[in-house]
Amino acid sequence: MHVHKYERWWLTFGMGMLLVFLGAIAFAAFADNMNPPSGLRAIDPTKVSKTPPFDHPGVRRLADGSYEAYYVAEVFSFEPPTITVPAGKKVTFFVTSPDVVHGFFIAKTDVNMMAVPGWVNSDSHVFRTRGTYLLICHEYCGIGHQNMFAKIVVR
Ligand code: CUA
Repeated sequence: MHVHKYERWWLTFGMGMLLVFLGAIAFAAFADNMNPPSGLRAIDPTKVSKTPPFDHPGVRRLADGSYEAYYVAEVFSFEPPTITVPAGKKVTFFVTSPDVVHGFFIAKTDVNMMAVPGWVNSDSHVFRTRGTYLLICHEYCGIGHQNMFAKIVVR
């Protein structure tokens, strides 16, 4: 079978790109340790309001000087609606939902999670710049989705 020269180049290019992308995925997975979330904490979605620490959502300061922020995402708000944390300190966010899937995205950061009923998701961030950050739900969750946001004040 005759394969035209340009066809052969193009096939080689395609195969090469495939290997490059597979290599990039393997590098991210193994060298950068980027994996799908595992070991998520389970929570009974019908008992979120009675399960500590989600019965009192909010910010806690840990003994090592870092912070934890517990959030409940439910139609169509975040609890607490506003928190204040210091700049330059590590803040670990924990979020769960008692009703439907919500998003948890803090604008101008790489904190981007889903709040899934039955699970506690978490991510950490160090705010370098003071100001007010917008926390938004970026998963369509119903008729009031566009009103679902909260504020994070960094001092
Ligand atoms: Cu919650 Cu969209």
